[in-house]
Amino acid sequence: MLDERKVSFSGVQPSGNLTIGNYLGAIKNFPEFTEKYKCFYCVVDEHAITVRQNPAELRRRTYETLALYIACGLDPEKNTLYVQSHVPAHAELSWILNCYTMFGELSRMTQFKDKSAKHADNINAGLFTYPVLMASDILLYQTDVVPIGIDQKQHVELTRNIAERFNQVFPDTFTIPEPIIPAAGAKIMSLQEPDKKMSKSDENENAVVRILDDRDTIIRKFKRAVTDSESEIRMSDDKPGVSNLITIYSCFTGKTVSEIEKEFEGRGYGEFKLAVGEACANRLAPVQEEYRRILADKAYLESVMKKGAEEAAYYARKTLSKVRRKIGFVNL
Ligand code: TRP
Repeated sequence: MLDERKVSFSGVQPSGNLTIGNYLGAIKNFPEFTEKYKCFYCVVDEHAITVRQNPAELRRRTYETLALYIACGLDPEKNTLYVQSHVPAHAELSWILNCYTMFGELSRMTQFKDKSAKHADNINAGLFTYPVLMASDILLYQTDVVPIGIDQKQHVELTRNIAERFNQVFPDTFTIPEPIIPAAGAKIMSLQEPDKKMSKSDENENAVVRILDDRDTIIRKFKRAVTDSESEIRMSDDKPGVSNLITIYSCFTGKTVSEIEKEFEGRGYGEFKLAVGEACANRLAPVQEEYRRILADKAYLESVMKKGAEEAAYYARKTLSKVRRKIGFVNL
């Protein structure tokens, strides 16, 4: 069976805390992406343990993440959805690539510097070699494109450097991947500090709306959203709070900015915020319902994991055996 599509690889941390920023910026566009690329979505439990995890919680979140992605429209029949630790080739290639990655390169990774400042009591070797495992994820599938947030760009650049270095010694081993940073997707800002991006790890819960927040919580958070001292509902650089709400409303309703400005002409912020909250809650309700249905069906989720792991392993094995042969390991 010949698949002409280019390969897209995406790693997702096992966390159920995804925000409407993740939803509107990336997840919502997944089905479209599937038409264009052969997509791998990997829940990266091995990356997760570079910081301390509660085991029961990690396991639960692995199921939750998978359920949420499926609920958001990722079809496991059309995409390869799986869990990283179910495909041992990731860890195997990672060891090999460790030997083709320089200490100095890893020392320069800003995420390592940030995380070792944040977890000063646990600066383990895995935290340091995290980007090598990520490079292995990507390179195992001869990936063409890697959709990521801007914070992961440095890791994809390192992946390219490792692949180029390896290919220089052993030609034609890896495809060199391109990062793609979804620009078309809406950029959703914090509800409390609208000049900052909405972040799933924000300490102020009122700043973030999560895909799994219930209706009352969603409406309350929008009611408390920071605006400005005027009363006009208008998109403008000097009105970041109101502009952000307009963007969100537009994404959830499909209405254009000028339609929205007209709809709320002469009406106050209170009324507008309520409308945004309701539009958001209405749109997320079916996703949440589907999420709960899928999450309750553990056997189904495990069958998805199993099928995904088998599919992924098939492609991973091809690359790994090529690498092993090239570097001089005995393949039996
Ligand atoms: N490091 C990524 C993050 O923290 C997750 C990730 C792991 C990833 N492996 C990947 C992303 C491969 C893209 C490709 O978000």
